[in-house]
Amino acid sequence: MRSVLSSASEALVLLIRCLVSTYTFITLPLYYVIQKPWRVKANYSTLRARPLNHGEEDFVVYRSVTKISDVHAKFIQDKLDTMEKVFCSAVSQHKNKPALGTRVILSEEDEMQPDGKIFKKFLLGGFQWRTYTQMNDEAENFGRGLRELGLKPFENVVIFAETRAEWLISANGCMKQNMPIVTLYASLGDDALIHGINETDVSCVVTSQQLLEKFKNILPSTKNVNLLIVMEDPLKPLELEGYGDAVRVRSYQEVIRRGSEASKSGKFSGVLHSPKPGDTAIIMYTSGSTGAPKGVIMSHQNIVNAMLSYTDVGPLYKNDVYMAFLPLAHVLEFISESLWMLFGIPIGYSTPLTMTDESSKIQRGCQGDASVLRPTIIACVPLVLDRIQKKIKEKIEGGPAYKKAIFNLAMEYKNEWIDHGYDTPILNSTLFKPIRAFLGGRIRFVLSGGAPLAPETHKFMKTTLCCPVLQGYGLTETCAATTLMDFDDNSWGTTGGPLTCCDIKLVSWVEGDYRINDWPNPRGEIHIGGSNVAVGYFKQPEKTSKAFYEENGRRWFRTGDIGEFTQEGFLKVIDRQKDLVKLQHGEYVSLGKVESELKINSLVDNICIYADPTKMFPVALLVPNFDQLKNLAEKSGIELATIEDVCNHPRRQQMEQLVLKELQKHAVKCRLQKFEVPQALTLLSDIWTPDSGLVTAAFKLKRKNIQDHYQFLINRMYS
Ligand SMILES: *[C@@H]1O[C@H](CO)[C@@H](O)[C@H](O)[C@H]1NC(C)=O
Ligand SMILES: *[C@@H]1O[C@H](CO)[C@@H](O)[C@H](O)[C@H]1NC(C)=O
Ligand SMILES: *[C@@H]1O[C@H](CO)[C@@H](O)[C@H](O)[C@H]1NC(C)=O
Repeated sequence: MRSVLSSASEALVLLIRCLVSTYTFITLPLYYVIQKPWRVKANYSTLRARPLNHGEEDFVVYRSVTKISDVHAKFIQDKLDTMEKVFCSAVSQHKNKPALGTRVILSEEDEMQPDGKIFKKFLLGGFQWRTYTQMNDEAENFGRGLRELGLKPFENVVIFAETRAEWLISANGCMKQNMPIVTLYASLGDDALIHGINETDVSCVVTSQQLLEKFKNILPSTKNVNLLIVMEDPLKPLELEGYGDAVRVRSYQEVIRRGSEASKSGKFSGVLHSPKPGDTAIIMYTSGSTGAPKGVIMSHQNIVNAMLSYTDVGPLYKNDVYMAFLPLAHVLEFISESLWMLFGIPIGYSTPLTMTDESSKIQRGCQGDASVLRPTIIACVPLVLDRIQKKIKEKIEGGPAYKKAIFNLAMEYKNEWIDHGYDTPILNSTLFKPIRAFLGGRIRFVLSGGAPLAPETHKFMKTTLCCPVLQGYGLTETCAATTLMDFDDNSWGTTGGPLTCCDIKLVSWVEGDYRINDWPNPRGEIHIGGSNVAVGYFKQPEKTSKAFYEENGRRWFRTGDIGEFTQEGFLKVIDRQKDLVKLQHGEYVSLGKVESELKINSLVDNICIYADPTKMFPVALLVPNFDQLKNLAEKSGIELATIEDVCNHPRRQQMEQLVLKELQKHAVKCRLQKFEVPQALTLLSDIWTPDSGLVTAAFKLKRKNIQDHYQFLINRMYS
């Protein structure tokens, strides 16, 4: 029966292939004339950056050939050199236009699931918008309210909250009084939090009602903190008791009210305290993958320069709409939201739990944020794109075989014609339309940054979402900006050309065998130099002088990443110095690279590759996707009820062999070298979260911790 079906679907695919070929043959001349593919194709490979020197030394410097755009020039002319001026400019340009939108939460209700479990879900209304003027008033009042409560200019203020409108408003309120903001990820572990708050001598912490409980626990360790400002949860009353006499707890609204009263008497007018370009705007704690987190000091000038360089990449339109859900404590999100405001693009706030109609906190029958907002722009990290990709693939895998075959055929067809410079408007508006609809159906482009995006995912998302997925490269230390793909760029796995604010230097790294005279492309450690390079690490002069240096009047940052420049001037990040392990035979395994390839496999939820330099092969610690593992196990007659079963299962070893085989097959497909492929594997039922200390707040692996935690398993795999 099965073979009859599969041959039926093969026949169908063959038929479709014939029809498509005929159609293509007939319409090609028409497409050729209308779409002018030669022009599009020429744009794929125009020069983005050129080397300034010719590698007589052990380094080569690349600079963008892009001209500064007219808008960028105008902003320079208008002397926008602090974030405070940027905000004021946005407000005076866009006054009564919608700025920030938040969904109204109507109620939270229990919903019975098909399996009888009960989950809490939201019933959500539409977006409620603050205009620019309203936002400005609120920010001004917030800043004044802080002054009323005793804070002074140059005094650090921590913002520790999830992404939401009040986050951005408080940040701008602080800037109006020239108070540097200290940002900490909402998902950071307690020790890291205490470290950041202590190191910056902060007395005032702005947080949210959801995080208040977490904060209560660490208050005894943060002796300096005497003021907590709490952004309210619309559904629950705010409990202000139980924090001791030394700590004042005030609601966000209360601060606004105080500020507004102060304004009537003309107190604390912001103008007096406007920041200067060199003043500190943000101390951003990055979740280092080793040791305590470091606070990166960004001046106003750093951030503005980084932000404005994005305006050279491509046009933004009046009807663009942005959907925000990445942490605002992530520099990419902070800068992009500030940029959209400058252009009058409305920002609608979402969360990963309410983004689509099928998201886990959305009540049945209620629309997800994307369906209501219908954004044209989103910014993602690869983790999110990987998840979306897996979801789409699962749906297709779960459907009938012929659908899968047609889908694969369409992907192949589309990619081929796009590579030749053609467009596929009919496929876009038929087969791929439902996938676009997943994110509201209007996405014009997706930004991706924060970590390398697997080339497969990149291609898949671009093809199925029918829009460019612009990958960028940048670090907190460079205010997110370094490179970004442009709209003409059709490459996969690159991160585009340098932005106009900085030069990129590749420096030969002999030990790792990456040199600037490698063929065909120069390779080496990436150093970034420009006006976007941060001031340094807060109270860490040693770490600062190790990572930053001055040369010819430019500030440079050593990234520790290994890059390669293509002929067109695209940067590819190919490795990381720390992730490289030399195996016994002398081959280097790049752990990060192997992980990012294997992660694409739907069996994998998370994976950590470990390579012992005294051994011949790497091994893998793997957190499986339970549903996929269950399917695979069932095929061999192994029953699994829950994820916890995996570890104590009598046939665990057999399961591990099955998964290993699948991964090895997958590795061959991604053209991994033999010595890069793990030869042993352990399945884990633990989910790796920042709380467990095994991953950073941005979900990057903390290798040392993982290794220590699972040492006995690693030993077993090697024995
Ligand atoms: C190619 O690039 C040029 C310059 O960026 C642009 O003006 C032109 O519209 C592009 N052509 C196409 C077909 O995208
Ligand atoms: C806070 O910082 C001081 C020095 O600045 C240090 O002595 C103290 O141990 C720190 N406390 C915590 C809880 O980290
Ligand atoms: C179809 O999708 C591709 C990306 O996959 C995009 O570049 C192109 O503009 C889309 N065409 C139309 C007509 O929407």
